[in-house]
Amino acid sequence: MADENTERRNQARLAILELANMISVPMSLSAVVRLNVPDAIWQGGSNTPLSATQILTRVLPSGGDPENLQRILRMLTSYGVFTEHLNSAAAERKYSLTDVGKTLVTDSHGLSYGAYVLQHHQDALMRAWPLVHEAVLDSSSEPFRKANGEAAYAYYGKKPEMNGLMQKAMSGVSVPFMKAILDGYDGFQGVERLVDVGGSGGDCLRMILHKYPNVRQGINFDLPEVVAKAPSIPGVTHVGGDMLESVPAADAIFMKWVLTTWTDEECKKIMQNSNKALPEGGKLIACEPVLPKETDGSHRTRALLEGDIFVMTIYRAKGKHRTEEDYRTLGVSAGFPHFRAVYIDYFYTVLEFQK
Ligand SMILES: C[S@@+](CC[C@H](N)C(=O)[O-])C[C@H]1O[C@@H](n2cnc3c(N)ncnc32)[C@H](O)[C@@H]1O
Repeated sequence: MADENTERRNQARLAILELANMISVPMSLSAVVRLNVPDAIWQGGSNTPLSATQILTRVLPSGGDPENLQRILRMLTSYGVFTEHLNSAAAERKYSLTDVGKTLVTDSHGLSYGAYVLQHHQDALMRAWPLVHEAVLDSSSEPFRKANGEAAYAYYGKKPEMNGLMQKAMSGVSVPFMKAILDGYDGFQGVERLVDVGGSGGDCLRMILHKYPNVRQGINFDLPEVVAKAPSIPGVTHVGGDMLESVPAADAIFMKWVLTTWTDEECKKIMQNSNKALPEGGKLIACEPVLPKETDGSHRTRALLEGDIFVMTIYRAKGKHRTEEDYRTLGVSAGFPHFRAVYIDYFYTVLEFQK
């Protein structure tokens, strides 16, 4: 029998209890987004520390339980979402937003990372999570399909509210990322006609066209039910279709967060269809999460590995986050002999495939 009094055993018992209760973190994050807590604290930039009672007065004039809200805020403070301001004399705790918490504040375009948090915790997605082990027992279909009877995108397509939230979630995540890469990556120079494959509402194209006036024609290509909801954007034509069938012709093709959700065979097909749509020397510019070779406990590695399990559970049991080498190999198999990876953002890497 191990000696349970050693430092190592004590730390191990603590760590396993933390892991076993980890579900409290994303569910509490969803709760504060649902309750509009970040916007209530932010108030146009004041970020004044507020008690749970003061927050509730702003978000729920009809009341609520301040003690339970404070429990949630304390726990999320330990994960770096809020800063706690403790007034011991008054036995009062107040909360302001950290930089992480600020990502949940709605901007002037109605966007934040909040929609992404909510999108990931909708009932249909939550039904898949108790079936993660099934992805090991039988990887012929993903837990989402086992729980809901069909693949995620087909399921979203029949539910306008899920499609709408997906589009909002994608915009909330993609707009800040695009701002970052458009400052550090110049691969759109000389391109006149650009297709964004799986472009959702068209935000990425809108931003590329704004920064690069040489791109005169933007084609936002996505599933018909998705482009039907996309807003009108000057210079951008929305085209509905299936990238596994074909991709509209262009000087260059952009795609962000698309290859990750598909199997190697499906990725090869999407890349071959992109190849056919490009002229000789044309580029496919993909932005995808790229796994590091080594495994460690850094935020970056964890965010990338957690996203990998999300893909396995929700989109494809054999869809996955890949390494730079995996992408190089996929590119060659689809007729792109030239490849380079550009690291700007910590989550997405720019992958340039050239014919
Ligand atoms: C993870 S989202 C990324 C959206 C967008 N590129 C972004 O990063 O903000 C994947 C996109 O692929 C689209 N998609 C899924 N299956 C598709 C298909 N067969 N043909 C074209 N687009 C598809 C989805 O509708 C969705 O908009």
